[in-house]
Amino acid sequence: MKFATFALFAAAATIATVSAADTKPWKITNLSSGERTNLCGRQIQTCQNNCGGPKEAPMAFCNSTTMAWGCGCSEKTPDFETWNWPVPAADCAGSNEACQANCNAGSSSDRNDCFASCSATHKCNTEDAPVSYTTTKDVDSTPQYVGPAVSYKGDKLDDLNDGNDRENVESSSEDSESGKDADASDSEEDTSSTGNIFKPAALAVVAAISAGFAL
Ligand SMILES: *[C@@H]1O[C@H](CO)[C@@H](O)[C@H](O)[C@H]1NC(C)=O
Ligand SMILES: *[C@@H]1O[C@H](CO)[C@@H](O)[C@H](O)[C@H]1NC(C)=O
Repeated sequence: MKFATFALFAAAATIATVSAADTKPWKITNLSSGERTNLCGRQIQTCQNNCGGPKEAPMAFCNSTTMAWGCGCSEKTPDFETWNWPVPAADCAGSNEACQANCNAGSSSDRNDCFASCSATHKCNTEDAPVSYTTTKDVDSTPQYVGPAVSYKGDKLDDLNDGNDRENVESSSEDSESGKDADASDSEEDTSSTGNIFKPAALAVVAAISAGFAL
């Protein structure tokens, strides 16, 4: 009995070591430069279309190096659902692929459950998709990339299993919540002259958690 327990424990420890070594953390900058350029072109175009034309989209930007993006129209608040914008949708798809690759790297007996859990946490192109931490206030700011696993609807999601450790970001984002609130009021002031600026995802999460707010 003692031996069996030990053997199970040892096997579990081995699996954990193997999958940690094989785990490749997903980041949207993992896309090739060609894919990033294409995605940014589509991102900017989607914003311009949503605003009603390039002239109505003073804050349509996307940085094909960092994938920082934002959308702000002069005459309206962008109303294309965030989870359907090209960059967040690609971020979700990439995270889902990394999740499945990590299932394949794990023990075969757990694989079906693991794939099912990837599908459950990556309902891409829906309000249940994980929030993409790629929006920024301007083209030179670096996105947060990894943040709490929360859906656009505001639900907390299980581990996205895309190789990113979210334990630390969750506590650090709570720590800096008041700092972000300050940034939010700053950016609202900054943007009143240029139009309605899309809310950065990090702020949306704070709002989602505290008020059940959905973008
Ligand atoms: C993404 O790129 C980083 C840095 O090159 C690399 O360490 C990581 O394994 C890549 N992730 C995937 C899923 O390919
Ligand atoms: C993209 O971001 C980088 C890093 O912040 C910055 O150096 C570069 O100028 C930005 N690219 C564009 C096109 O603004």
